[in-house]
Amino acid sequence: MPSNLAIRTQGLTKQYGQAFAVEQLDLEIEAGQFYGLLGPNGAGKSTTIHMLTTMTSATLGDAWIDGQKITDDPVAIRRTVGLVFQDSALDRTMSIDENLQFAAALYNLSPEQANARIDELLTVFGLQDQRNKKLVTLSGGQRRAIDIARGVLHKPKVLFLDEPTIGLDLPNRRSIWRFVEKLRRDEGMTIFLTTHYLEEAVACDHVDFIQNGRLEQGGTPADLIQQLAETILEIDTDKPENIVNKLASLFGEPIREDQQLSFKIIANDVDFSALQKSLGDQISSMQWRRPNLNDVYLWRFCAPDTMGNEK
Ligand SMILES: Nc1ncnc2c1ncn2[C@@H]1O[C@H](COP(=O)(O)OP(=O)(O)OP(=O)(O)O)[C@@H](O)[C@H]1O
Ligand SMILES: [Mg+2]
Repeated sequence: MPSNLAIRTQGLTKQYGQAFAVEQLDLEIEAGQFYGLLGPNGAGKSTTIHMLTTMTSATLGDAWIDGQKITDDPVAIRRTVGLVFQDSALDRTMSIDENLQFAAALYNLSPEQANARIDELLTVFGLQDQRNKKLVTLSGGQRRAIDIARGVLHKPKVLFLDEPTIGLDLPNRRSIWRFVEKLRRDEGMTIFLTTHYLEEAVACDHVDFIQNGRLEQGGTPADLIQQLAETILEIDTDKPENIVNKLASLFGEPIREDQQLSFKIIANDVDFSALQKSLGDQISSMQWRRPNLNDVYLWRFCAPDTMGNEK
């Protein structure tokens, strides 16, 4: 394999009984990349991360991290990777310091190294004065910051972030993303992210999608957005059938969410104001705007011809 691949998998598969959580996954992620894996609940994102970090073994297939086959020396792999679990790995009855010292010991950091790194990380999150506070007394955002500090204590080459900002308010999410950006810049870390906040995935160099354990090729967020459509047209109406009858022949079937219809417009010469006038009081409101990554996701997983598969 080329030596600049941080992550590579070949036919990586995880089966639970008869069910495939992840099936025949082939991935190549270059060192230093910010990679995003997106998909619905139960798609296989966490299972992929757990296999790549040796938390769970694959049923079939192979994987390499930083050129090392993960089954050859799992202990070495655990030193190469950092993992921020979807569910916190911290002991709430212990203090910040105890939690981080415990993790540092697992990574064989000397007490001096551990103290210096803990200081550095807590300073980034403004928690340097809270070192002896028990986790149970911290806010959710502060605890998540400690989870992330724990994941990067040993300066891993490859960092796996499984929904790192779930449940956090905007300032806390932003502070975590500033930190991740700093890790990429200062430590050249490769980042493997899963998130349901798609606006966070826009910063990725590349995103792929996963559904029912199968990988679907993605691309750069900008390319995916550009390829999706020129414009997204959203219409609120209490007569959705009438509107679909009128517009589907022009724009294709919309995504329907209750009384909201969302059309994907490829053409760049549609006169939306005239259209709005012609629909008159059959609609309660109408907006047209540029697409974003949320639209890419919705059209991939909730598009008219895929609806019903999952439900
Ligand atoms: N230990 C397990 N035993 C049995 N089935 C499991 C186990 N862990 C995961 N699964 C199943 O594997 C599939 C993939 O789960 P996984 O946790 O990887 O999804 P995910 O993409 O991370 O979802 P979410 O977005 O909800 O976190 C699901 O159908 C799940 O029920
Ligand atoms: Mg998950």
